[in-house]
Amino acid sequence: MAMVVDGQKGVLRRMKKVKPIVLSRPLPDDWIAPVRAKFDVHVGTFENGLNSEELAEHISRVEGVLTLLSDKVDAALLDKMPSLRVISNMAAGTDNLDLAECMARGIRVGNTPGVLTNATADIAMLLMLMITRKANLAEKDARSGGWKTWDPTGWMGMELGGKALGIVGMGKIGKAVAKRAEAFGMRIYYHNRSPLSEQEGKPNWKWLPLRECLASSDVVSLHCPLTPETTHLVNAEKLSWMKPSAFLINTSRGKVIDQNALADALRDRKIAGAGLDVTDPEPLPLDNRLFTLPNCVIYPHIGSATEDTRRKMAEMACENLIAGMNGDEMPYPVL
Ligand code: DGY
Repeated sequence: MAMVVDGQKGVLRRMKKVKPIVLSRPLPDDWIAPVRAKFDVHVGTFENGLNSEELAEHISRVEGVLTLLSDKVDAALLDKMPSLRVISNMAAGTDNLDLAECMARGIRVGNTPGVLTNATADIAMLLMLMITRKANLAEKDARSGGWKTWDPTGWMGMELGGKALGIVGMGKIGKAVAKRAEAFGMRIYYHNRSPLSEQEGKPNWKWLPLRECLASSDVVSLHCPLTPETTHLVNAEKLSWMKPSAFLINTSRGKVIDQNALADALRDRKIAGAGLDVTDPEPLPLDNRLFTLPNCVIYPHIGSATEDTRRKMAEMACENLIAGMNGDEMPYPVL
């Protein structure tokens, strides 16, 4: 409800803000204050998002939504929102949205690109260090009595210095990982659809065909968006191209890897280990066999989870939503 001045007498009156919008899930008040100030905001629950009972009576008349990457927005859901004009996705990725459907229905879409580059590149390095140095096992042992003495052959891992990192998908995050890895003394190979130009790349970053990139690297880090072409890009065959001593890192999307093939490869030591910030599905069910494998580290999709980054993502998502609702150009448009 907003307070408005009514008529010549200047009487203050409560008036319903006219344009209804929905946040799929609760977000901190100070993050969404600009949106609350302008619109009639309804919020879903953490568990059910846009399908929350709390939203049921509003969803059919809603004009704008702020979605998270955990919201799957498909034709069936869009059918429930016939008045929808604007989707603001608080994520860089948009694979949770059926963009073709949105386009067909004239729904404008915005996202939050660029601001999570450093945070995500840091997590890729963290996974790389953790899995190559067996830090997951060492920390667990330190807490559970497995640390008996200074063990000369205990928890031995692989040093990054002097090793080759193969980056699949040399966009902003891939490049940020390459720079960090160089500081650790790694050589950089990469695979993209085409080699980077002189301005975009560095002379010592070497483009390789995918097979060679996977076969020559000691660590492979995935940074491609999820598209039909990259779905299960890393399958049993591609895993067999990697060295048995190599590690696979994924901070992109879980579906880029065929997870069953990965679990087999890890179990059979066809590759040495994997560090995953993303899985398929998310959250990964506790009975998933990846959780039973000591050579696999799994994080709950925390690539962008720094206070600065998440706040900035919310700010951009609010800017997109407000601009879209006002009929202005979105600052960070997808459609
Ligand atoms: C995104 O925004 O796409 C990231 O995966 C969030 O961490």
